[in-house]
Amino acid sequence: MPADTAAARTCPGRFADRVAVVTGAASGIGRAAALRLSREGAAVACVDRNAAGAAQTAAALRAAGARALDVACDIARSADVRAAAERIETDLGPVFALANVAGIGDVAGQDGIENLPDERWQQVLDVNVNGSFYWCRALLPGMAARGAGAVVNVSSLAGRSKSANANLAYTTSKAALLGMTRHLAFDYGRRGVRVNAICPGGVDTPMIRAAATLAAASPETAAARAKGLAAYQFFMPIQRLSSAEEQAAALLWLLSDDASYVNGVSLDVNGGLYMA
Ligand SMILES: NC(=O)c1ccc[n+]([C@@H]2O[C@H](COP(=O)([O-])OP(=O)(O)OC[C@H]3O[C@@H](n4cnc5c(N)ncnc54)[C@H](O)[C@@H]3O)[C@@H](O)[C@H]2O)c1
Repeated sequence: MPADTAAARTCPGRFADRVAVVTGAASGIGRAAALRLSREGAAVACVDRNAAGAAQTAAALRAAGARALDVACDIARSADVRAAAERIETDLGPVFALANVAGIGDVAGQDGIENLPDERWQQVLDVNVNGSFYWCRALLPGMAARGAGAVVNVSSLAGRSKSANANLAYTTSKAALLGMTRHLAFDYGRRGVRVNAICPGGVDTPMIRAAATLAAASPETAAARAKGLAAYQFFMPIQRLSSAEEQAAALLWLLSDDASYVNGVSLDVNGGLYMA
């Protein structure tokens, strides 16, 4: 099936009368998830540190007649997440679905761990691990009290194996997210809240293109990267990057009642590049 058909697919009403929070909603997988959740009936809080991008996504949802809120928030800041969660529940109502999509990549130290400074290591963990933790902590207790909720954390093939494009901090952060997913799934499954993760392979979004730009600081690194990406695609059974919409399709399935007995999984969405 070609990647572009995923954009048009929808299960009407699957999230009717439900409130969903999507972080990273300004771009890529988060934007695709927000659009589809809205098409399937959810009121969506579009969270991103890119305020203009979040506003653009929310405006697109509202233009189609849906309820949507844009929320400018740096997910690496605990107090900002708490305030954002409170605002969302006041404006849209109790949250049923949380998609922790926002994340960053980095290439520092790819040539050696000695070139990975504290602040770059910390920044990746702050966003990719702490950000999801802050959102889970803000919203899971309410879901549990109501006995209904679903969370999807967006990890990566990097968390299942190792990153092909980003650095040690990225791989570490995405593996940590899978541990967080399993632990929360155990603790909250018995209270009516499912917690799962998706592990995308290569996705054609600004993130993968930004990694290319950063790595291309010199002609040598650019050439090495081009070679790496070509090899990456050569070994993919489905020989292309996925679309953001294909990732959103898997994410929405896990958030939906269609996955009512699925809890604590790390779902590989990588075209068969890594199988385990
Ligand atoms: N693109 C890929 O190949 C790929 C592969 C595996 C996993 N992923 C994961 O998928 C998720 C989404 O990535 P994408 O490819 O859509 O990237 P993207 O760059 O298109 O989107 C990421 C979004 O997250 C937002 N964001 C980043 N840091 C933030 C912060 N501190 N607070 C709030 N928002 C923040 C950005 O502003 C952006 O809108 C990430 O967690 C990424 O690690 C991507």
